[in-house]
Amino acid sequence: MSMSGSILDLLAASVAREREQTRFYRRLAAWAEDAGDAPLAERANALLADEQHHVSRLTARILELGGRVEADASAEDSGSAARSIREWEDAARSREDREVAWYENVLDALTDEPARRIVEEILRSERHHARALGGKWMPAEAHTEEASRGDGTADAAHDARN
Ligand SMILES: [Fe+2]
Repeated sequence: MSMSGSILDLLAASVAREREQTRFYRRLAAWAEDAGDAPLAERANALLADEQHHVSRLTARILELGGRVEADASAEDSGSAARSIREWEDAARSREDREVAWYENVLDALTDEPARRIVEEILRSERHHARALGGKWMPAEAHTEEASRGDGTADAAHDARN
């Protein structure tokens, strides 16, 4: 999407990306558990928790701005399954690098100050992910949990403005 989009467009596109990341790490965690690799499963679940938290933070701001967040219709990660830890790590690092680049660009375009603070926090988290391929790097903030549950599905129907 274009970086010249509205605030809500930028936030919605970010939510879609974060949801894709949660699918990726959920799949990685399942693969690690099947492979009996408890440490990898733990890392994947920590990363998953961070990405879910990103969804929550972004969703909360969208709702505050009067936007709407659709239920996540996609059930599966579209990427092909890696067959080794090395392949997973390479894929995860590439994905995290893309997330860092995405949020750097979002910050160039985003004018809403509360949203910028959220994105700056997420960007710090994504940089840690790219460097360490582990979580958790997002501080818990209870006030965002009501606006979004689980993978960020919001039930409240707000009038969409865009
Ligand atoms: Fe991440």
